[in-house]
Amino acid sequence: MKIKLPKTRYYGSKRKLIPWIWECIENEKLEFNSVLDLFGGSGVFSYSAKLREKEVYYNDIFKFNYHIGRALIENNKIKVSPSDIDYLVTRHNSIRYQFKIFNYFKDIYYPDEENRQIDIICQNILNIRDELKKSLFFYLLFQSCMIKRPFNIFHRKNLNLRTNNVIRNFGNKKTWEIPFYDLFVRFANEINDYIFNNGGKNISYNFSALDCPINADLVYIDPPYMNQKNTHTTYLSKYHFLEGLVYYENFIDHINFKKKNLEININSNMDFENRTTFFINLQKLIFKHRNSIIVISYRKNGIPSINDLISFLQTLNKNVSVYSNKYSYALRRNNFEQEEVLIIIS
Ligand SMILES: C[S@@+](CC[C@H](N)C(=O)[O-])C[C@H]1O[C@@H](n2cnc3c(N)ncnc32)[C@H](O)[C@@H]1O
Repeated sequence: MKIKLPKTRYYGSKRKLIPWIWECIENEKLEFNSVLDLFGGSGVFSYSAKLREKEVYYNDIFKFNYHIGRALIENNKIKVSPSDIDYLVTRHNSIRYQFKIFNYFKDIYYPDEENRQIDIICQNILNIRDELKKSLFFYLLFQSCMIKRPFNIFHRKNLNLRTNNVIRNFGNKKTWEIPFYDLFVRFANEINDYIFNNGGKNISYNFSALDCPINADLVYIDPPYMNQKNTHTTYLSKYHFLEGLVYYENFIDHINFKKKNLEININSNMDFENRTTFFINLQKLIFKHRNSIIVISYRKNGIPSINDLISFLQTLNKNVSVYSNKYSYALRRNNFEQEEVLIIIS
């Protein structure tokens, strides 16, 4: 099956591995109709399951991701029109705007003018009643905010990387400077192409994985990756700014002013972001879903080791298959080799 997937700039996205992941799943010749994607992120796995006509339940701890899940997975028909984009970028007389990003985030992620635009766009979105449209418009804003950032994340105060007049060996200065309006047109064309109805009642959820009350025939588990070097950067630290936009009304109460990047501490959850508790929580999660087919995306050299994880899985008295996929990627000027592992428990 040829799969066309939304482009993502999301850290840890499995976009490139999706065809391989489905090859492994299909190799097991298992029957299932519903899929729960517990750590949904960019939504590419959920979307690929939607394409396969499964009933899909997307889940992620962050509300901004929940909106991405709702725009791509739950949404069966609503698309973005040119007049929607005009509405989003226009300052309307009927709205009394606040300028919180402009006032608090000066010189941190975006230049003043863009901060002001983010304030306006965000409040235009929150002014919309239709919940699916709200998510769809947030999708445009989040993709645009990510593409305008060096490395696409918010873990450092580093606007200077964008504004300094220097020769760079990373990122794309031209892309960072594209106006929001043009980016919205581009991302609207992109997402409009992906919206379709697969006949199922697909739903986006926003629970911590351990508290998610949803069940499905197949449960996909792709938790944050814990490296062995103790240099883990949490997803909150990478994406807090987008989470703050969803909570525009009160995010200021959650800013950590001790951090230079003014991290917004909303929906922080350390269950799978902490080396000492990660494995025990993963075991709890797997045990909770032991009556479903479980598919785990994992990487060699992480914590716990593949061997420790497999030893635990063998205690479940189920069939355990392990697939591995070596690939290399370029970071700055170096080439790195990575080994991605897929474990299927059935
Ligand atoms: C490796 S990424 C998943 C990537 C995703 N499969 C994709 O292809 O885009 C891990 C995701 O787990 C989410 N996350 C972290 N802690 C979580 C928790 N306790 N419950 C649910 N989601 C969590 C993060 O927000 C992040 O989106």
